[in-house]
Formats: sequence, C-alpha cells, structure tokens
Amino acid sequence: MKPALVLTQNPLLARQVERELGDKGYSPLRYADWREVTERGPYALVVVDQHAPLTPEAQERLMNAPLIVFLYEDQFTGARAWLEAGAQAIFLYPAELEAFRRHLDRLETPGSDRKAPAGSGPRGKVLAFYSAKGGSGKTVLASLVAQQLSVLYQKATLLVDLNAQFGGVEALYNLEPRRSYLDLQPVIEELNEYHLKSVIARHVDAPLDLLLGPADPDKATYIEEELLTRVFQLARRHYDFIVLDLPSALNVQSFSGLKSADHIYYVLTPDSLAIRAFKHVKPIFERYHLQQAAHVSLIINRVHRKSEITPKDIERLLPLPIAATVRAQYFTLQPYQNMGKPFYTSRQRPAPLKSLTQDLKPLVESLVKGAQSHGSSPAKLFARFMES
Ligand SMILES: Nc1ncnc2c1ncn2[C@@H]1O[C@H](COP(=O)(O)OP(=O)(O)O)[C@@H](O)[C@H]1O
Ligand SMILES: [Mg+2]
Repeated sequence: MKPALVLTQNPLLARQVERELGDKGYSPLRYADWREVTERGPYALVVVDQHAPLTPEAQERLMNAPLIVFLYEDQFTGARAWLEAGAQAIFLYPAELEAFRRHLDRLETPGSDRKAPAGSGPRGKVLAFYSAKGGSGKTVLASLVAQQLSVLYQKATLLVDLNAQFGGVEALYNLEPRRSYLDLQPVIEELNEYHLKSVIARHVDAPLDLLLGPADPDKATYIEEELLTRVFQLARRHYDFIVLDLPSALNVQSFSGLKSADHIYYVLTPDSLAIRAFKHVKPIFERYHLQQAAHVSLIINRVHRKSEITPKDIERLLPLPIAATVRAQYFTLQPYQNMGKPFYTSRQRPAPLKSLTQDLKPLVESLVKGAQSHGSSPAKLFARFMES
C-alpha cells in the first residue's frame, strides 16, 4: 500500500479524495493539520486543501512527496505560492474532482504525463500577430481570430498576451491582471498542463482561454525566452491554436513569439508610415533567422475608401500573400472595447460584427481546414519577404 496524506478540515472533500485514493491503491491517512501527523514519511502522495498552512516545517515534512492542492475558488491567488512550494497539480474543488481522478491515473502509469513523442498526437499551431507599428490592430485582430476559432469553430484556442509591460488583452476583456505566465517561472523545469491551467484566465462570457503577461514593466524584465518557449511547447499539446498578441517592440516576448510561430500575420495599415515600419522589420528578421520559423503573410487592417494606399498597391510594394483585408470598423469595435465585452459569445455571428467576421473568414477558414496558407513554401514566402 502506498501511504498518502490527506490534509483538510473539510469532511466532504476528505471523503471524496480518500475514495479516489483508495481506488488507486493508496492508503489515505487523514489529518486536519500538519501538526497532528504522526506517521513518518515518506508519503507516496500528499493531498491538501488551500487552508493547509504552508509552513517551512510542513514543507520539510513533505519530503519531496508529490503535492496536490485543492482550491475552493477560481481566483488562484494562492496558486503561485503553491506552485513555488512544489505543488504538482492544482484543482478546483468540487468542479475538478474528475480531473483529479485522471491525474491519479496518470501517476499510476509513469511517463504518460511526459511529452508526447515528436510526430504523434495533436500538435497545435502557434499564430503570431505582429507589426512593427503600434496601433495597427494586432490586439484586436488576434482577439477576433482567437474568438472566432474558439466560439464559431469550437477549436481549443489559447490567446496569449505578450505585451508584458502594459498588457492589452486583459483591458480588452475587462480582466484584472492576475495570474500570468511569469508565475510559471519557479516550475519551469517540470512544467506540466496543470501548471499551465493554474495560470489561465477565462472570460466569463466567452469560451476562450487567456494567458496573460505580468502587465508590469518591472516584472517584464524578468521574462526569459526559455520560459515562453516552454509554455508554447506545452500549449501545443493541449490546444489546436495558440494565438500570440505580440508587442511592436523587439524584446524577449516578441522575439520568442516570432521564433515559435508556425505562421506570422504581419498587420499592416494602408499608409506609408506602416510600409516604412515594415521595411525596418527586414533586418530584424534577418538577424534572428526567422526564415526557418514561419510562413509570413499580411493582414491589411483598417482599409477604407480614403486609404492612402490601396490593397492593390500593397500587393505591388510588398509581395507577400495577403491573408485578409479588414475594413475600418471604428464604431463597431469601440463599444466592445470600451465595455470589455467579448466579440463572440455563442455560435451566432453578431450582426454588428458582420463585416469584420466576413473579412477574416478566409483566414480563419484556412486555419480550420488546416490549409497551408496560399500554397507557398515557407522558404519561398520568406524569400519574397526579403526582396521587398
Ligand atoms: N479594423 C479596424 N477598424 C477600426 N478600428 C480599428 C481596427 N482595428 C483596430 N482598430 C483600433 O485601433 C486601435 C489600436 O488597435 P490595437 O489592436 O490595440 O493595435 P496594436 O495592438 O497593434 O497596438 C484600437 O483602438 C482599435 O479599436
Ligand atoms: Mg496591442
């Protein structure tokens, strides 16, 4: 029998957890508090609820046993502390008892929680929305595309806000910045899906997972490329699409995002400033050897009758495939942004968003169908990109 400690003062939780543990061949030992524990470790497993104190003494007594934590509210304020203390998994009680059971199953078959071998299993696509010019519409378009994929096409989609200094997505969704990918730094070496889940936010009205940044310029300086790369790698195993909203600035976030992307959507507004900014990207892409990383295509955004430059001009000036041409829809977008409302909440396409939905449809449908955008090879695409 494998001794498992259960530390909780909640009798209902204790009973349910004990039953699951018993089913899996553990012998559960229940206590209200660490101080009462008389059995000496090591334990095969320790399950606690959020009220179990995390004193140094308690940590010592854990003796490296896998720690599983149940939280009662989906606010995860304590999640970071638990992760730092070495929690292997965090579940919401009672909503996630089933996930707890599956986790126990996986513990029984060692190695099954490991990374799937290359080439096997589903592999999500990382899509980067980038532009060298701020205010081009990266955040809005990344959100629209992510929401369409998740709400209209039921694709498991994660929207990642990489504007670490000030954020953007959480403003768009009216979320208080809370958990962020930076909270995963302490567990980077053993990062797993439960860690990832514990920092993901969800809009109450939209079935879309959000991974936010720290939204704090001081903290942003601690972000390392390795952390982001690992997070993207892990996310690929659990999502169909990982949509990255990148900052215009070239920093660790945009660099990691561009490097990890399967496809880069360069957002271009039809004006000469935007075209000039685009030309600056060329040496940057050269420097970072992004040609191996991704297909690059353009989204022409905020097109209107009086645009300084037409999509036709762009086709001529910048010979890159155009994935979508999006009309200027200021008055449509504003109310959603001002109120932090998601664009899509059900499979119905809201009437006010008709033209935005239509304009992005070719892009989103090609993603859903898994079409290689525009049929060109990455090398070819990039070569054209470099010629511009
Ligand atoms: N197609 C569009 N029509 C009208 N306004 C738009 C459009 N796309 C973006 N905007 C507006 O432009 C502003 C900047 O967009 P944002 O997505 O924040 O840009 P970025 O992330 O590139 O800095 C926002 O106020 C947004 O509402
Ligand atoms: Mg932005």
